[in-house]
Amino acid sequence: VGAAAVVAGVAAVVDLPRFGAGLSLRPEWRWDVVRERDRLGVVEVITEDVGGPYPLPELTAMRHAVPVLLHGIDLSLGGAERADPERIAHWARAVEALEPPWISEHIAFTRAAGSDVGHLMPVPFTREAVQALAANVSLLEAAVPGVPLLLENIAYTITLPGEMTEAAFVRAVLDATGAGLLLDLENVHANAANHGYDPIAYLEQLPLDRVVEVHLAGGVWEGGTYADTHSAPVPEESWRLLSWLAERTAVKAVMIERDSHLPPFEEALAEVARAQSILDDARRTATVAGR
Ligand SMILES: [Fe+2]
Repeated sequence: VGAAAVVAGVAAVVDLPRFGAGLSLRPEWRWDVVRERDRLGVVEVITEDVGGPYPLPELTAMRHAVPVLLHGIDLSLGGAERADPERIAHWARAVEALEPPWISEHIAFTRAAGSDVGHLMPVPFTREAVQALAANVSLLEAAVPGVPLLLENIAYTITLPGEMTEAAFVRAVLDATGAGLLLDLENVHANAANHGYDPIAYLEQLPLDRVVEVHLAGGVWEGGTYADTHSAPVPEESWRLLSWLAERTAVKAVMIERDSHLPPFEEALAEVARAQSILDDARRTATVAGR
């Protein structure tokens, strides 16, 4: 796989359009999104919800108001077993109907030995896990030919035994698959807090030129652990990581993710506007510096 996949992947990532800041769609917000489309660069829809909470005609209409990306949460790409053909077929139908400019899934597994874990679980940072994930990525890519794929880093509280650092593992996964990186900065913030490392030192080890999209969200401290709950406003630490990142690479899209304790839509839009202004500032600085 190696070199050819990397070259194709980097080229595909560089050519992707810039959408700016937007929101991860929630059913409660679907009419707000259409009404306030001028204040949103993009909207991200959970692939598993296509046809369920979001009827297809509604999404196809929405896509004419604001660009729609598809983000999967349950393909279990990092599982030891082959990705479920029915879920892959669902992906193919969703992509055919909505024609997203790119799609994304997680570097994680959600199923093992036929049972649902009900949660994004970390895979061991090993060569074997890279190969298993790459095999599942090929199954997905075969079902949605030509659609660029991003892979996302997850938050985890347990670390499975492995043979490389997380950053080296992420790089190996991107090299083996040719995928772009969906960098969830809140997950970086949560992992840094829970595993006691410096988030910037971690980010510096990642192939930042492969970042296409960023996720931001907010969690809560529960006892001594920072829980990645997507139930709170984006914390200052994660905003700082976005400023740091945007000065170093051309981020094409930033998505605010909120799963519970939904704020009034206007508050969500204020976070979108803050993300957009960080992207705009970084772009102005880069233009002045001739980058
Ligand atoms: Fe995320």
